[in-house]
Formats: sequence, C-alpha cells, structure tokens
Amino acid sequence: MASVSVDEAMRRAIELAARGLGTTSPNPVVGCVLLDADGEVVGEGFHAYAGGPHAEIVALAQAGQRAKGGTAVVTLEPCDHVGRTSPCSTALVQAGVARVVIAVPDPNPVATGGAATLRDAGVRVDLGVRGAEAESGNVAWLTAMRRGWPYVIWKYAATLDGRSAAADGTSMWITSEAARMDVHALRATVDAVVVGVGTVLADDPRLTVRNLRDGSLAIRQPLRVVVDSAGRTPDGARVRDGAARTWVATAAEVGTGPDGGVDLPALLAALHTRGVRAVLLEGGPRLAGAFLAAGLVDRVVGYLAPRLLGAGPAALVDAGVTTIAEAIDLELTDVTQVGPDLRITALPRKREG
Ligand SMILES: NC(=O)c1ccc[n+]([C@@H]2O[C@H](COP(=O)([O-])OP(=O)(O)OC[C@H]3O[C@@H](n4cnc5c(N)ncnc54)[C@H](OP(=O)(O)O)[C@@H]3O)[C@@H](O)[C@H]2O)c1
Repeated sequence: MASVSVDEAMRRAIELAARGLGTTSPNPVVGCVLLDADGEVVGEGFHAYAGGPHAEIVALAQAGQRAKGGTAVVTLEPCDHVGRTSPCSTALVQAGVARVVIAVPDPNPVATGGAATLRDAGVRVDLGVRGAEAESGNVAWLTAMRRGWPYVIWKYAATLDGRSAAADGTSMWITSEAARMDVHALRATVDAVVVGVGTVLADDPRLTVRNLRDGSLAIRQPLRVVVDSAGRTPDGARVRDGAARTWVATAAEVGTGPDGGVDLPALLAALHTRGVRAVLLEGGPRLAGAFLAAGLVDRVVGYLAPRLLGAGPAALVDAGVTTIAEAIDLELTDVTQVGPDLRITALPRKREG
C-alpha cells in the first residue's frame, strides 16, 4: 500500500471521528489513523460509544506490531487518565509509537496531559494539524467542556413570512416531510431536546428520534426536557409516554430566573451535570426568545417553507430587542434546499460588552 502524508491521515481521522456523532456523549468524537514507520496505514479507529474503546486503542489493536516506530494521527489529544478505560497515552508508549500528531488539545481537566506524558516518554508530539477542521467536527463537545454548559442549537420551522403557526394556532405541518426527516437526523446528534410547556400544551409533540415512514424508534433517544415553571405538563402528554427519558424541569427544582420562568443558565448547568453536551432547543417562540435574549444560543437552524400565512405567531417572541441597533446579528454558515424547503444555518455574532 502507498504511504500517506500526515495531513491526509488527519483528514481521514476527522472523517472517522464523525461516525461517532450522537453516540459518544458525554465523551467527544475521536478518530485515529496509525501509520507504520514507512507511512503506510496500518490501523484505523474511532470512538463509537461512551464506555467503549477509544479511537487510539482500536487503531493500535489493528496495527499490532506494525505500530512500533510508527505515527499515530489523532483528532483529539490522547487521554491521560484511567476512566472507564486505561490511558491512551500509556498504550501508545507501550506500543512503541515514535510520533503522535494531534489536531486539538483536550480541554477536559480530568483527561488532559496526554501530550506531556508522551513527550516525557520520548515520543515526538505535533499539535494543531487540521486543528480548525477537527474542532468544527467536535464543536459541541469542545464548547461544552471549555465553559461548563451545553452547546445549544435553536431549531425552528417557519413560513417565508416568518410565521411559526397560523392565526388559529394550527402549525402541523409548516414544512415538508423531507425537512422533518432532516430534523430527526439533527435530533439524533444531540443529547437533549428542549421545549417550553407552551409547545407541549399546544402541539403535544413526542420529541423522539424515529423513522417518519413507519414510526419505529431509534435505539438511542435524547433526553426530552420540558421547561415548565409550575409543572403544567399534563400526565397524559406524549412526552411522558416512556419512549425516551423525560425531565419536566420546574422552577421549584431548577430555580427561578429574572423574568419569573425557569432559570435558564441553571437549567443548562443541570443538564451539563447529567452529561448533556449538545442541546436541540425546539421551541417554541417564547422559550427561544428567552434563550436568545440571555445569549445562550450557539447555532440557529431555521427551516423556511415556501408558504405565506400573513397572520399568526412569529417564530421568535421577546428576544430582548426593541430597536434595530439591538438586532441579534447572525453569520450565515450554510444554506441548503431540503425537499421544497430551505435549511438555513447561522451563528449568532458575539455581542460587545
Ligand atoms: N414553528 C416552530 O418551529 C415551532 C416550534 C415549537 C412550537 N411552536 C408553536 O409555538 C406555540 C407555543 O408557543 P409558546 O411560546 O407558548 O411555547 P414555548 O416557548 O414552548 O413555551 C413557553 C412557556 O415556557 C415556559 N417557560 C418556563 N421558563 C421559561 C423561561 N425562562 N422563558 C420563557 N418561557 C419559559 C413558560 O410557561 P410557564 O410560565 O408556565 O412555565 C412559557 O409560557 C405553539 O403554537 C406551537 O405550535 C412552533
């Protein structure tokens, strides 16, 4: 087999890492490619689920003796602690790897230190190869670990004139089946789906990840969270159907915020403690407005249907904006047509002061 460059190997490791998206939490996604002393690929691995073997261990097992004198190319700094598995740094040293190339350092205070251990053992360590690319593949986990609360994606569906429901309150379905399938794929990548009690009372959603054609449930379901100050979620609500875990987060349990609702930073901190790293905020307009006003949204995903209603509630309510100078500016990162609808992805720009 022909030899590959470290850069090519890292591109492959990033592809491998992405296969774990949605199943590794509370761990990160990680990919690893092992090259032998001649630069030939002798092992590949990715972290598939929490508690399962780390990417480096999978690749080392494939490589066997051929890892000796070779190079491990890995998307995240190898862990240095004994968790559910033993340290990857030690395993790489014991396998006789001569060089380790890392895309992104590990921000987790418990697991960091792998690079130092490797260097102390005489292994050459290079950091930052395709760092930005690897970072974006792991953005939710890295952001959550650095700041201590989950990465929040606000998803909404609206007509081209920005309505989230018709004047009589009906809202099913604004967007196409193709767009709704896309939402299920997005749900499958997060650890928790969050709605306000207003959405539960109006729409009685299931909030599960399922096949829209036959209704079958995905094996892994995100935690369903209803933000419900006074505990108004009905006993018979579909979110209580047992198809996935559900947390009705009340003010009594989480704390009360300045506007009298559930304290949102405290809610996110509590979710982080439960191992949630990525949250899909699915509405409705009032809860989304409160999250945006508090600067707690990291990414916006809007599905726009080529339809007009001319009346009915807006996709967003009370986001703390009263004049154009206060508008929440977004940077567009992707525009894709999904069936007949548009999916727009954008990042809120950081505000001054
Ligand atoms: N098009 C879409 O993408 C989409 C998505 C979801 C919903 N919807 C539509 O939205 C409508 C429901 O709107 P909604 O605004 O009432 O729903 P919502 O945002 O899901 O729920 C709002 C409720 O959440 C509770 N809440 C608790 N803590 C809060 C906090 N800190 N900030 C804000 N709210 C907090 C409040 O009720 P308590 O005071 O009782 O706690 C509040 O009234 C429905 O017609 C539904 O169809 C549309």
